[in-house]
Amino acid sequence: GEDELQRHFDERIAQDQRIEPRDWMPEGYRKTLVRQIAQHAHSEIIGMQPEGNWLTRAPSLRRKAILLAKVQDEAGHGLYLYSAAETLGVDRAELTEKLLERRQKYSSIFNYPTLTFADIGVIGWLVDGAAICNQVPLCRSSFGPYARAMVRICKEESFHQRQGYELLMTMMRGTEEQRRMVQDATDRWWWPSLMMFGPPDEDSPNTQQSMAWRIKRHTNDELRQKFVDMTVPQAEALGVTLPDPELRWNPERGHYDFGEPDWSELKRVISGGGPCNEQRLARRRAAHEEGRWVREAAAAHAAKHAAREEV
Ligand code: ACO
Repeated sequence: GEDELQRHFDERIAQDQRIEPRDWMPEGYRKTLVRQIAQHAHSEIIGMQPEGNWLTRAPSLRRKAILLAKVQDEAGHGLYLYSAAETLGVDRAELTEKLLERRQKYSSIFNYPTLTFADIGVIGWLVDGAAICNQVPLCRSSFGPYARAMVRICKEESFHQRQGYELLMTMMRGTEEQRRMVQDATDRWWWPSLMMFGPPDEDSPNTQQSMAWRIKRHTNDELRQKFVDMTVPQAEALGVTLPDPELRWNPERGHYDFGEPDWSELKRVISGGGPCNEQRLARRRAAHEEGRWVREAAAAHAAKHAAREEV
């Protein structure tokens, strides 16, 4: 019966074995995964917009080719993640509807504008750096399809992070104005990057259960600390200042201390009040409408072929 199945599931989790789509799983586990994977997929797709904004204005052919490749990778990440969600019995079209109706979320970070080309470098460095910190442990997530999707995604994210850092190194070797642009972009993206990890642990309703199910492997605050520790030396090497007067090495803890992000800002951005929320969803909605004929044509084509094969 149900108790037996639950016991078997709990044992597999305790032994660090993977749960696969055809295995029995508690309804809450399935729901949590659909929520997190769908939100992750939506973030990849919406995340194409802030960088896509610079494709036609990249300063050289080389920078344009790199940026194009990166934005295409993000589309690919969205697709693997929607596929992983579909193994849980949901339909991708339904997930897209929920995003457009604001019934599912996407990452707060993509609701900030990209004002200069230095933002492209800083997104690679900080935003993709934060994404790597958050996602490397997800390669060990208990749900097989999600964990496996993360392996390839993380490899591509490391390339994204390096291209961002290399872009910034190049700008820092340039003119005074270019250095100012890098500092300004760093000032604007630092706090939002820390907020990507989610609310502080005492204010994170899902963490405890997700950790017990081994969907998440670390808490939001643990990962945020890891990101700060990793990034401070990179900022020093680059020659930029992180905009936090409280940031300092704490030898007792063996970690950097840092200031408190403005959690009211995170709440506001998650609930639709960030600088670009309207624009991002409007663009996503328009792209979905503009693609309708492609979906209809593909479905008609598939139906025609299926009918032929039946004969
Ligand atoms: N942006 C938008 N929503 C957020 C964010 C954020 N930065 N952080 C937390 N939330 C939401 C959660 O989804 C949750 O809402 P819900 O219950 O309606 O889904 C609520 O705020 C409370 O947060 P938590 O209880 O901490 O939620 P959770 O345990 O899911 O942790 C986290 C949030 C860390 C983002 C987790 O879902 C995760 O690791 N997701 C996978 C990574 C991911 O989605 N990355 C996307 C951005 S990176 C990129 O695409 C380049």
